[in-house]
This record gives sequence, structure tokens and C-alpha cells, in this order.
Amino acid sequence: MQTDYFKSKKIVISAGPTYEKLDPVRFIGNYSTGKMGYALASELANLGAEVHLVSGPTALTIQHPNITVYHVESALEMYEICVREFKDAHIAIMSAAVADYRPQHYNDVKIKKNEEVLTINLVKNPDILATLGQQKTSAQLLIGFALETHNELENATNKLHRKNADAIVLNSLNDAGAGFKHSTNKISIILKKGRIFEFPLKDKTAVAKDIVTCISENFN
Ligand code: CTP
Repeated sequence: MQTDYFKSKKIVISAGPTYEKLDPVRFIGNYSTGKMGYALASELANLGAEVHLVSGPTALTIQHPNITVYHVESALEMYEICVREFKDAHIAIMSAAVADYRPQHYNDVKIKKNEEVLTINLVKNPDILATLGQQKTSAQLLIGFALETHNELENATNKLHRKNADAIVLNSLNDAGAGFKHSTNKISIILKKGRIFEFPLKDKTAVAKDIVTCISENFN
């Protein structure tokens, strides 16, 4: 790996889940722990990058002179900061598990269980990766993630093109130990130019090293 490739580069990383509020005590969320994004942040900061970590609610903490952390809760908050920070960034890596939908209405007071069947309308959240894909210049690099359960390669490749990313890190829910509840992950990296790299199951810290090495070797 070219160890100075990331030195002083501004890198935006999204990590963790988003919480979409229903009322003062409830939200819609997911099982993401944020480990993958935090491992990437730490790896890149150690290589001299200026990391901007936009994190949904997680139990993780991170402290490094090269890392600025933005704590957000909802997809809309994550969207706002990612779009703002991407403008003068070199690279963005979108590893967050962003909720695709949010409740249409927020209840100021706790929803009481008066109904036998409760219907909650959900509206689509903006797609952060796709927005950055629309805004990116030829000098910027955009890496997305894909979590798939079937037709993994085909779906992930479609996602790569649809969202105008330069590469997609695919993890399949069919691989034991992979995905967001685990501290290990099994990934493939699909490059826009068509090459595919496959990696065995590893600890997320080692996976972060593989991703970082793959970026530095294929995009300089
Ligand atoms: N993503 C995002 N903003 C969203 C939804 C997803 O930035 N509102 C990003 C994720 O961070 C990830 C990539 O898009 O880098 C793929 O996310 P995934 O949930 O696998 O795909 P979706 O676009 O939600 O497609 P689908 O759920 O239909 O597979």
C-alpha cells in the first residue's frame, strides 16, 4: 500500500444506524453497531487522513487528533452534515445503515395504545450516497456499502451504478458472521471499472485495512 496516499486527505465517513423518531420515547431503528465505520475512521486517521465521522447513535467512542465526530440521530441530520462536509472532501465512505423511511408525523406526546391496529405512515428519506454521487466531481472518490440477501453481486453492481459510486463494499447477510450485528465481516469490493475483489471472513479492524488498501491501490 502507498502509505502516504491518505495523508492530509479530507475523508467523510458515515457510520452506525439512524433513529427515526415516532414520539418522545420511541423510534424506528436498526441493528447497526457502527463498528465498520469506526474501524475505517481509526485506520484512515492513523494513515494521516483528516477524518470527519458522521455517526448515528452507537455505544462506541473514538478519540484521535485527526478525527472530528458529528453525532446525529436521524437520516435527515446525517444527510445535512454529509452533504456539507463532502463539498471540499477528497473521499466519502458511506457505511451507515440509513433508515430508508421515517414516520410522516412526529407525535409531541407519547402515542397511547387506544387502537387495535395502529397505522404509521412512512415517507422516504433522502439517499445520502446517491446525493453525493450526483454532486461529486471527477476529483472526488465515493465509496458505498451494500447489504444484500439475494442476487448479491447483481444488486450491489446495480447500486454502484445507480448511485454513481466509484466502488461498493458488499456484505451478504447469507454469510455467517457478516453484516451489522457482528464484529466480523466478509466483504467483496466491486469497482466501477468492473474489477471485483473478494475477502475471507475477518475482524472488522482487518476488513477496514483491506478496504483502505484496496482504495489506495486502485484509485491513485
Ligand atoms: N444509503 C444512504 N442513504 C440512504 C440509504 C442508503 O447513504 N437513505 C447508503 C448506505 O450508507 C450504503 C448504501 O447507500 O452505502 C446502500 O445501502 P442499502 O441499504 O444497502 O441500499 P438501499 O439504497 O437502501 O437499497 P435497498 O434497501 O433497496 O437494497
